[in-house]
Amino acid sequence: MSDIGRRGFLVRTGLALGAAVLADGYSRAFADQQAPHYRFKNWEVLRTQFPLSPRLIHLAAFFLASHPTPVREAIERHRAGLDTDPIGYWYEHEERQEATVLQTAADYLDADPTDIALTDSTTMGLGLLYGGLELRDGQEILTTTHNHYSTETSLRLRAERTGAIVRQIPLYRSLKALSRDQLVDSLHKSITPATRIVAVTWVHSSTGLKLPIHEMALAIQSINRSRDEQDRVVFCVDGVHALGVEDFRLSELGCDFLIAGTHKWMFGPRGTGLVWGHPKAWPIAQATIPTFNSQAFDQWIGHGPSNNLPRSIYMTPGGFHSFEHRWALDEAFKFHQAIGKSRVTQRIYELNQQLKEGLTAIPHVTLHTPVSQDLSAGIVCFEMAGMAPRTVVEKLRQRGIVGSVTPYATQYARLAPSLLNSPNEIETTLAEIRNLRSS
Ligand SMILES: Cc1ncc(COP(=O)(O)O)c(C=O)c1O
Repeated sequence: MSDIGRRGFLVRTGLALGAAVLADGYSRAFADQQAPHYRFKNWEVLRTQFPLSPRLIHLAAFFLASHPTPVREAIERHRAGLDTDPIGYWYEHEERQEATVLQTAADYLDADPTDIALTDSTTMGLGLLYGGLELRDGQEILTTTHNHYSTETSLRLRAERTGAIVRQIPLYRSLKALSRDQLVDSLHKSITPATRIVAVTWVHSSTGLKLPIHEMALAIQSINRSRDEQDRVVFCVDGVHALGVEDFRLSELGCDFLIAGTHKWMFGPRGTGLVWGHPKAWPIAQATIPTFNSQAFDQWIGHGPSNNLPRSIYMTPGGFHSFEHRWALDEAFKFHQAIGKSRVTQRIYELNQQLKEGLTAIPHVTLHTPVSQDLSAGIVCFEMAGMAPRTVVEKLRQRGIVGSVTPYATQYARLAPSLLNSPNEIETTLAEIRNLRSS
């Protein structure tokens, strides 16, 4: 018997009853501490939900979330319960709280909770998925040259370990005068009969370019119409810089897998993420890390076959987690729902538009992100004549403006206006960038 006995074991030993009684005590003790549900009033009030330094203009918030009040309070509640009686609190909350997290994520995404696997980050999702998607002899993975380190490395490790063929293509030569049609066309014409998996990134953190994922999905669906299920192109998207920015529904998007961290634009607890898979696509995902799902665990204890649960469950890695963070993730989805998806998108677009238009008007600045919101989301990349991107970011930081440098072979200064910013902050930032040259 494992030392981490499961619910069935507990029921048999009677500990479950004790745990339930204890945890009921916690529920009552901590219920009083629950803050009333967040309601959106205006952007100034929203900003007060975050304990971010008011002395800084935060334009790299997408890098790693600051926890808003409901998320922070939920973390504290779970932490207190776990610290008081780790096993009692865990038994009482594990199944119920994970189900709540999955349901709120599913509501937000317009998906089925059984199609969602929980992870600790985008990178964990990418590594598990690209490491485990089944390929038959001769089938290839088609990807682009525009992905983040985490996609590129997951695919390289897969190729090195298994000999899988990974073919990388550029989707464009220049970002100037690029159109959505050109991007779709580039992908479409690169798909060959051998292409089984297509791996792309929705919003590129290298340039801010946003791919037309829905149109790409439609192009892939048209190819798939003449293919057997086992040869169907499976479309995988790193959506981390779209989740919490773009107003989309997974029931309509058209991709097969969406991989994202929830600790960036979603304001979820640090160390959380998810993989959503279409029910037709999940069967080709092979797990690498044992799930700790209680049914899977019970099946193992009973030595029964463990192959009849949704694949997303097997793709949710087990081992114990920082549960106070995982179980507070539902609050992040509720927080975004309270603001409203379309309001979120509109605000991020407006602030980014203001920044891009302002940068375009500064003579010594070259903007690399497309101005059109059709081709960009919440990330703006630029260069300043005669100044290294790192120096630009350092100088802005000295002036209280927090940006970042793109962590890619070609480096740019990067600013990401988000829900935490105001039009005034963008104006201040533009004024500082205008002055940078002379300083
Ligand atoms: C496009 C993209 N994918 C993946 C990641 C990695 O995300 P995570 O920290 O959630 O693993 C990042 C940035 O950190 C990114 O920019």
